[in-house]
Amino acid sequence: MRQVDITSVRAGLGAYPGYRLDATGREDFEGGRLELLEQIFDPGSRQRRDLVQPGWRCLEVGAGRGSMAAWLAEQVGPGGTVVATDIDLTYLDRLHAPNLEVRRHNILDDALDELDPGSFDLVCSRLTLFWLAGRQAEVIGRMVECLRPGGWLIDEDGDWGTAGPVDPSHPLYAGYQRAYQSGGWFASRGYDPFFGRKLSELFEHNGLVKIDQQATAEVVRGGSPWARWWRDTLDAIREWGPTDDGATESAEEDHEALTAACMEPSLWFMTELLHTCRGQRPG
Ligand SMILES: C[S@@+](CC[C@H](N)C(=O)[O-])C[C@H]1O[C@@H](n2cnc3c(N)ncnc32)[C@H](O)[C@@H]1O
Repeated sequence: MRQVDITSVRAGLGAYPGYRLDATGREDFEGGRLELLEQIFDPGSRQRRDLVQPGWRCLEVGAGRGSMAAWLAEQVGPGGTVVATDIDLTYLDRLHAPNLEVRRHNILDDALDELDPGSFDLVCSRLTLFWLAGRQAEVIGRMVECLRPGGWLIDEDGDWGTAGPVDPSHPLYAGYQRAYQSGGWFASRGYDPFFGRKLSELFEHNGLVKIDQQATAEVVRGGSPWARWWRDTLDAIREWGPTDDGATESAEEDHEALTAACMEPSLWFMTELLHTCRGQRPG
């Protein structure tokens, strides 16, 4: 099996890759991918945000299509407020609730003052920090600055080493594993496949207390909503090969092996581990 070390890959790639699922020019496809994401993850995310109280002020960073921001707006009620931010408002602009405010904001580079730092009871993000490779500690620090003393930060992010078929005797197993390398596929594109498991450490480093982190995974069939979402994600970043030069022949073969497995109903997959980390700003 090929082994990929993210440190040496980074040295080869130069700048960190940043977010690569920009919807520009492919709005319908990305809208469908985000809708699947919400269908798969919203039920668990609602449970994991069960601390939210009526009257709270909440911030959702990288809100995407906005289902969790809309849900938070219902939970905080008319006496509370929710601010939903993203670099791209294609989908958020459709949301309308009197206590929900949508703002274009880049959590990496835009001024934090635009978000009213120190004012939020709850700051959340889901499946966004993974893509901000190399800047995650800094971004968590910025989200912590948005909290009022005593406020809570919740992030949900993936640990992608586990995502793959479970039966080594299945004809599509070997091709998938050869391409995916237990997450080395992500590492060779500049992303840390094991990012999710590092959240507690990053929260602690940023001064949070009462840290609690848990992870869940499921085993699902090829063709299931999760497998289609994973296939769509692979499709969306297919032109980005393991170097900045774009797709290579072997990257195309890898893509075929990964996506064929995703759509094969006789194949069972273990999903990524979805980590949820909560921490409180002292005060
Ligand atoms: C994978 S989507 C997840 C969307 C949403 N959090 C959810 O779980 O339904 C990641 C989102 O983060 C946004 N994003 C990427 N980089 C960002 C940045 N630097 N600042 C704010 N949002 C960003 C993207 O535009 C996208 O909507």
